[in-house]
Amino acid sequence: MKILFIGDIVGEPGMEMVRRTLPGLRRKYAPDVVIANGENAASGKGLRRQDYDDLIFGGVDVITMGNHTWDKKEIFDFIDGADSLIRPANFSPEAPGRGMTTISKEAGLLTVINLHGRAFMPPHDDPFEAADRLIAQAKAESPLVFVDFHAEATSEKIAMGWHLDGRVTAMVGTHTHVQTADERILPGGTAYLTDAGMTGPYDGILGMKKEEVLYRFRTNLPARFEVPKNGRTQLGGFFVEADAGSGKAIRCERILVNDDHPLKG
Ligand SMILES: [Fe+2]
Ligand SMILES: [Fe+2]
Repeated sequence: MKILFIGDIVGEPGMEMVRRTLPGLRRKYAPDVVIANGENAASGKGLRRQDYDDLIFGGVDVITMGNHTWDKKEIFDFIDGADSLIRPANFSPEAPGRGMTTISKEAGLLTVINLHGRAFMPPHDDPFEAADRLIAQAKAESPLVFVDFHAEATSEKIAMGWHLDGRVTAMVGTHTHVQTADERILPGGTAYLTDAGMTGPYDGILGMKKEEVLYRFRTNLPARFEVPKNGRTQLGGFFVEADAGSGKAIRCERILVNDDHPLKG
């Protein structure tokens, strides 16, 4: 099974970059499944029904989320009925939605799990324990399991990678919006990347207009952050090929597409 993951999609520039780049990524990687993190799809914060529909109709099979899950309140109206949308599994047991989904493709059944970190982040339930519990459930269906661990600290993500090694097909980190260059297949057969980086504006600061962010750093005064409407864009992602019988990764590749790293055949 071939899995393509797209990192945090930021606002309309990110959505447009997905529309423009996905056909080329499909030609190059021929993915059976496309997963994308959509926590920033709505103008940088949250996900509206329209963004969900656009991504699903655009060919994304599963959308994962993160700390911005609830930023657009309309998500409360549709998350329970959105089969292809998951939010971190270690949110409160009272949170709507679900943290895991299994999709069926010709290449096999794949379970996707979304988890949220706790280092330098809001205090959610234990993601390591949640992973153990959900992997046990997922493995009853299929050995193919993909994890998006939405976390700030590289150390917490690396720790999770080792915690999951040999038990899941792949773990990719999201949230920092900056791609790391440490892609590898861990000894147990889990493809790993600390952070996929984001999909959206290339010349801003983590997807926001640079002027306001710079102003806040310089002055410590409040500023309103906005996603730039125009300008260059980038896509960050991760590709994993796995053996459907064992669920182990065979090959993985970090994906970065921008003006400095054009997509090559
Ligand atoms: Fe994000
Ligand atoms: Fe985030």
